[in-house]
Amino acid sequence: MRPQNVAVVGATGAVGHEMLRVLAQRAFPLASLRLIASPASAGKKVTFDGAEHTLVAPSREAFSGLDLALFSAGASVAREWGPVAAGLGALVVDNSSAFRQDPEIPLVVPEVNARALENNPRRIVANPNCSTIQMVVALAPLHRAFGLEQVVVSTYQAISGKGARALDEFDAQARDLAAGREATHSVLPGVLAQNLLCDWKHDADGWSEEERKMVFETRKILGMPSLAVSPTTVRVPVRNAHSESVWARFAKPVTRAEALEVLRGAEGVTVQSESGPGAHPQPRFASGKDDVFVGRVREDASDKRALHLWVVSDNVRKGAALNAVQIAERVLR
Ligand SMILES: NC(=O)c1ccc[n+]([C@@H]2O[C@H](COP(=O)([O-])OP(=O)(O)OC[C@H]3O[C@@H](n4cnc5c(N)ncnc54)[C@H](OP(=O)(O)O)[C@@H]3O)[C@@H](O)[C@H]2O)c1
Repeated sequence: MRPQNVAVVGATGAVGHEMLRVLAQRAFPLASLRLIASPASAGKKVTFDGAEHTLVAPSREAFSGLDLALFSAGASVAREWGPVAAGLGALVVDNSSAFRQDPEIPLVVPEVNARALENNPRRIVANPNCSTIQMVVALAPLHRAFGLEQVVVSTYQAISGKGARALDEFDAQARDLAAGREATHSVLPGVLAQNLLCDWKHDADGWSEEERKMVFETRKILGMPSLAVSPTTVRVPVRNAHSESVWARFAKPVTRAEALEVLRGAEGVTVQSESGPGAHPQPRFASGKDDVFVGRVREDASDKRALHLWVVSDNVRKGAALNAVQIAERVLR
């Protein structure tokens, strides 16, 4: 790939920081780098790879002359500026929910549906939701081997999924509770320290936004518009890396040994199937790593066509920044 003119939009955020780290770690060839954040941050300095950059606010000028714009600044910024950046010639990869449901815009996890990138008239690619990405990386190879029919998933989602300010608030809550003080909240919808929260907006039918995203996005990525997907999403007091308990039923009977063999050969998956303490996938171990870690693979006790899996991955990395950079690498190579 020739050196690229790249902008990171939302460069001061949790995902933006990780994007910068991923670009450096993968030695992504940069001709120039523009760091974009909100108007409140414009003019502040950020150091990346030993060089100092001045943050700029979004503007037509900021989006001119780019090959690639990696957006992680929320849906309203993406809706306003994504089409501008694409119109000015950049490939846009957006981490928000702004474009995921648009039938003209590919929603891509490269290990699963890279072919969707071949039809991208608007030069915008949507990065899926973090909980969906790690689940489909684990399920797609099993689907190819055994034919997926149904998924039931419960998530154990880390605080970093709510951004940098939520992490700071969680730390303050943990300190307050440890000191015997009342904990307060303004970014998180409640006290998460020593607690669990179902902290997404619910619709009239009781489903959370995050659960609806997992249903829609899993179906779109796998190209299975009527796949049965039943999620329950939960926020847990873990700083980084989401975990998921996944039950999946297939068209064919499948044994634990067959499933492990398929998963061991799958791109982007590391199998951790040893028994004993510490041998299964864990958020602390998965943090900062690229792969989706799969373990606790079990045949269902009463259904020969069903499996249970425990799936852990860094939500800010594979669930956002890394997946976006991998998409760009596939398109721009
Ligand atoms: N965290 C995750 O695990 C994760 C995973 C998948 C997808 N996402 C999505 O990625 C996006 C960013 O998430 P995050 O967790 O990184 O959030 P965050 O930590 O709150 O960061 C938000 C970033 O957006 C910038 N921003 C806000 N308003 C802006 C504006 N008007 N113009 C330009 N930049 C603006 C902020 O800049 P300032 O510092 O100047 O305010 C900051 O850099 C969200 O859409 C989120 O849903 C997050």
